[in-house]
Amino acid sequence: MTHKIILDTDPGIDDAMAIFFAFQHPDIEVLGLTTVYGNIPVAMAARNALTLCDVAGRQDIPVTKGVAMPWVGPESEYAHFVHGDDGFGNINYPPSTRELDSRDSAQFIVDKARQHPGEITLVAIGPLGNIAMALRLEPDLPKLVKGISIMGGAAFVPGNVTPVAEANIWNDAHAADIVFSADWEVKMFGLDVTLFAPTDPEFVNILAAKNPTLGGFVQQASQFYIDFYSQNRDEKVCFFHDAFPLAQLVAPELFEFTRGNIRISTDDLNRGQTIVAPPGTTASPLWTEAPFVQAATGVKHDELFQLFIDTYAL
Ligand code: BDR
Ligand code: CA
Repeated sequence: MTHKIILDTDPGIDDAMAIFFAFQHPDIEVLGLTTVYGNIPVAMAARNALTLCDVAGRQDIPVTKGVAMPWVGPESEYAHFVHGDDGFGNINYPPSTRELDSRDSAQFIVDKARQHPGEITLVAIGPLGNIAMALRLEPDLPKLVKGISIMGGAAFVPGNVTPVAEANIWNDAHAADIVFSADWEVKMFGLDVTLFAPTDPEFVNILAAKNPTLGGFVQQASQFYIDFYSQNRDEKVCFFHDAFPLAQLVAPELFEFTRGNIRISTDDLNRGQTIVAPPGTTASPLWTEAPFVQAATGVKHDELFQLFIDTYAL
């Protein structure tokens, strides 16, 4: 079965690895890359997405530029310290000269959802401003898509930006609140699974050996990212957060979920916290009347990384 997806992204090194996985997998059809600010400013995110299409020889895939700012508050601080000045670990890769699709990311999402009702899975691997904007443009979006999977949040584990918040949700907590509150059950792949599945840096060498073009790009770009993640550790590690929701589409048997009611904190202190209450854990209507989420809480690590390798090898 082929999964039609729109990949909403802020590339970003783990975004690049995830995008190539999606391009490579025969059961995934990428209808477009919609970009958003996050790791880097949105203009750079859009250009980087075009560049990744060039690397992969996929100039047929439309790329759009979307929101540049959080729903509320000032322009974000970017994560250049994780992803480098260029978003690709400072490898000086020549930027694409291809044109963007003229539509805004949110409009593109709405247009495609109307064009393929019930067929598209939205996969969001950056802050959620484009999806929130698409919900404003088309309140029936939840009925028009097949589903939504996001990389973001931390249900039962600490955050990576603050003690309670993961970066994608922290970056645009108000947008995340809109998205999680819409009439769909979000599949959330947060730090519960992504940060608990570190990989040895040898992984990127294997990707490069299996696929010198795509894996080679990931290997080069990842060196800066590996150094960031390996600070204050004895061994080198790497985390490919953004590929998790894509892997689940094609290999659902590798994941376990916990269902619960979810609230997103938007106050300053707890900004971006994703608080999940499984049924029976609270009688508070603040949670029992809140929308449900499927939060990934378990993953078969070895099989997951073998899936990435096998898919890059195709
Ligand atoms: C998320 O934040 C970004 O740095 C990554 O690309 C990923 O989407 C992990 O917290
Ligand atoms: Ca990302």
